[in-house]
Amino acid sequence: MHGADRVYELDIRHIEHNDLDAVLEVERASFSSPWDRGTFETTLEDSRCIALKVTSGVELAGYCIALDLTSMVHILTLAVHPAWRGRGLGRRLVEEVLRRSASKGKVCAVLEVRTSNVPAKSLYSSLGFVHVSTWRGYYTDTNEDASIMVKDLRVRPIADAEAAIVENREVAPGTWRLELDCAIPQAEPGQFVMVQVDEGLDPFLRRPLAVLSQRKGRVELLYRVRGRGTALLAKKNQGEGLRILGPLGRGFTKRASDRTIYVAGGTGLPPLVFLAERLEAGVFIVGAKTISETALLDRVGAIPGVALVVMTEDGSSGDIGLATDGLRRVMDETPDGEEIAVYACGPMGMLKEAAALARERGARIEVSLEERMGCGFGVCAGCVVETRHGLVRVCREGPVFDAEDLLWG
Ligand SMILES: Cc1cc2nc3c(=O)[nH]c(=O)nc-3n(C[C@H](O)[C@H](O)[C@H](O)COP(=O)(O)OP(=O)(O)OC[C@H]3O[C@@H](n4cnc5c(N)ncnc54)[C@H](O)[C@@H]3O)c2cc1C
Ligand code: FES
Repeated sequence: MHGADRVYELDIRHIEHNDLDAVLEVERASFSSPWDRGTFETTLEDSRCIALKVTSGVELAGYCIALDLTSMVHILTLAVHPAWRGRGLGRRLVEEVLRRSASKGKVCAVLEVRTSNVPAKSLYSSLGFVHVSTWRGYYTDTNEDASIMVKDLRVRPIADAEAAIVENREVAPGTWRLELDCAIPQAEPGQFVMVQVDEGLDPFLRRPLAVLSQRKGRVELLYRVRGRGTALLAKKNQGEGLRILGPLGRGFTKRASDRTIYVAGGTGLPPLVFLAERLEAGVFIVGAKTISETALLDRVGAIPGVALVVMTEDGSSGDIGLATDGLRRVMDETPDGEEIAVYACGPMGMLKEAAALARERGARIEVSLEERMGCGFGVCAGCVVETRHGLVRVCREGPVFDAEDLLWG
């Protein structure tokens, strides 16, 4: 009998052998293909097993079972009795497993979830898990696919550091390359920094800019002058100081695939150049209205293993058309059966079209969003967007997202 209306203090403890009857009752009430007693017994006997139950008084309301592997934790199962759902118990159990694993130095947590199980996927997304691949027909009872989700458990340090300008130079009309001498922790491709453009109160908010490269204490940024903040930044000279907060956000997942395609439009070039310089493979598509708008083309063309495709709307260089026309062509030229990974950053319309093209082709696509930001580290809710898994903050859960998770409108 479950009496969720009589709530005693909730307690999270290890599952003991004599909890098995209660565990099995929750299991059967939760899954169409429940584990049997033997599976639980074998799993609990495994010395690597982390088996936690949440109880209220003597009543077992839910449990989470995970395996402690060399550098990661594998979450095997999570169940909450129907009478106890909607109270955040699943979240508390997973958080406890993650807390224990992180304190033991595990670098990531991994789990698989039925692709149709939207509530579970939402829970895991809100806990910071990201979908990294799909295992076709993984669940043999229904032949359903599994979504493999991973969460990075490493605490990524950020710093609010004083930076000295090494160079701030216009490299294309309205586009500036800014090189800073600056001691912030190492950024990953797709991460960004918040730049304080002026010491005074105006503009009050720092401006987000993606990291273009970071090496030996030097951080490189590329920005287009849009409004007051970036116009002030363009007036800064060599030797002047700036405050930089970063690195921030979640970058690209950098998965291996047969063909990697980068799609950059507008101000979306920097994080993708950083990624391509790391991966040294694939096709890099740059889209612009006209060639004079673009910067860094020579640099992209020189990345080993990366082929450059230029698309201009006025035909001033490369092929006439949009970046997404280039994407369609490169995907069409990719032999059937080859796995394609697309990474895109640029205007919303371009990202939406790229996501649709990738979906048609069955390619995986990650997009980096350029939402307006206030704080840049998750406290002001100024950058919230709606996803299939609820509201998320672009600065914390993004700026890079699996395109499938976004609601494109
Ligand atoms: C994670 C992230 C990474 C970014 N990386 C880069 C980069 O590497 N290079 C670069 O040039 N720009 C980048 N941007 C966009 C950049 O932050 C904005 O262009 C900048 O903040 C504008 O500031 P401003 O004071 O000059 O303009 P404002 O006076 O604030 O606004 C001027 C115009 O720019 C538009 N705008 C303002 N903020 C944004 C924004 N975040 N995204 C899109 N349009 C905006 C406004 O709608 C307005 O039309 C990035 C944005 C994000 C969120
Ligand atoms: S900018 Fe403040 S929460 Fe994202």
